[in-house]
Amino acid sequence: MKTILSGIQPSGKITLGNYLGAIKNFVEMQNNADEDTNIFIFIADLHAITVYQDPVELRKSIKSLAAIYLACGLDPNKSTIFIQSEVKEHAEIGYLLQTMTYVGELERMTQYKDKMQKQVQGVSSALLTYPVLMAGDILLYNSNYVPVGVDQKQHLELSRTLAERFNNRYSETFNVPEPIIQKVGAKIMSLQDPTSKMSKSDKLEKASIFLLDDEATIRKKIASAVTDSEAKVYFDQENKPGISNLLTILSCCTLKSIDELVEDCKDMNYGEFKKIVADALVEKLMPIQQRYNEILNSEELDLILTEGAKKASYFANKTITKMKRKMGIGRKQ
Ligand code: TYM
Repeated sequence: MKTILSGIQPSGKITLGNYLGAIKNFVEMQNNADEDTNIFIFIADLHAITVYQDPVELRKSIKSLAAIYLACGLDPNKSTIFIQSEVKEHAEIGYLLQTMTYVGELERMTQYKDKMQKQVQGVSSALLTYPVLMAGDILLYNSNYVPVGVDQKQHLELSRTLAERFNNRYSETFNVPEPIIQKVGAKIMSLQDPTSKMSKSDKLEKASIFLLDDEATIRKKIASAVTDSEAKVYFDQENKPGISNLLTILSCCTLKSIDELVEDCKDMNYGEFKKIVADALVEKLMPIQQRYNEILNSEELDLILTEGAKKASYFANKTITKMKRKMGIGRKQ
C-alpha cells in the first residue's frame, strides 16, 4: 500500500502557481495511481490561522477551495478530500511531534524568517511551529509521496527528519516521505516581479493570476506582465525571467515542451506571444470555472467533505493510538 498526501492553505485566493505547482500534479497522480494507492488531499485550515484570518472570509475560502479541488479533477471516488480541522488528530500529532523538534530547526526555516521580517509585531508561536503541524499532516497517514511546489521542500525535509527521529527513538513506525516536485511549473513567478514567487499574499493584484479570475482580467494581467527590452522569445531564467515564466506557464497549459514552444514562438513579438499565453490560460481555466460554479453550492460538496473527514479520521486515529502507545503516554490500548 502506498500513500500520497498533500494540502493547500485556504488563505486568500488560489493562484495559478497553486494550480500548476500543486493541484494539477495531484490530479495527474490520482489518475495514474493503481488500486493499491491511498490518496489524501486536504484543505489546510489549521495552517491558515497561523496568521489572523477574518472568520467569515476563511469559512468561504475553505468551501471555495474544496470546490476548486473537484473542479480541477479530483475525484472523491479515488481521493479522500477533507478539511484538516475536521480531523482532530492533526492538532494532536502536531503536539506529539513538537516534543521532539528542536527550536533551532524551526528558526532556520526560510518561510518563517521571511514572514518574521514582514510581520514584525504579533507573530504567533504557531507560525514558528507550523512546519511541525505540516510534518504531522504527512506522518498521520504514513505518507510515501507528497506532491508540492519547490517552496515546500525545506518543510518536507523536516518531515523526513521527524519520521526518522521517531523511528530511531521508539522503533520503526513511519515511512520517510518523499517530495514530488514537477520539472516544469514547480515555481511560477510573479507577473510583476518575475524574480520572486507568485504568491496568494502578494498585495499587488496584477502580480498573480487567480484561478477564478475572469477572462478579461486574465488577458489584462498577462498583457501587463513584466518582460524585458530584447523583444525575442527564448528561455533564459537568469536574464529573461519574465519571458521564461510565461513560457513555463504556456508549457504547463499546452503540455508542449519549452523547446517546442520556443521554436513555435521565436518569430513573434512580445504582444503576439502574450496573446498566445493568455489564450492558453483562458482555454485551461474557463472550463474549471464553469465546473466550480456548478459544484460550489451543491449538497454533494458537503457530503464529499463529510465522507472524507470520516475516512481520514479512521486512518488518523490508528496512527495516533500507535504513537501514544510507543511514546508511553495514556493507558496502553
Ligand atoms: P500553500 O498553500 O502555500 O501552497 C499550496 C501548494 O502550492 C504550491 N505553490 C506553488 N507552486 C508553484 N509556483 C508557485 N508560485 C506556488 N505557490 C504555491 C506550494 O508549493 C504547495 O504545494 N504548508 C503548505 C500546505 C500544507 C501541506 C501539508 C502541503 C500543509 N500541510 C502537508 C503538503 C503536505 C502551504 O502553505 O502551501
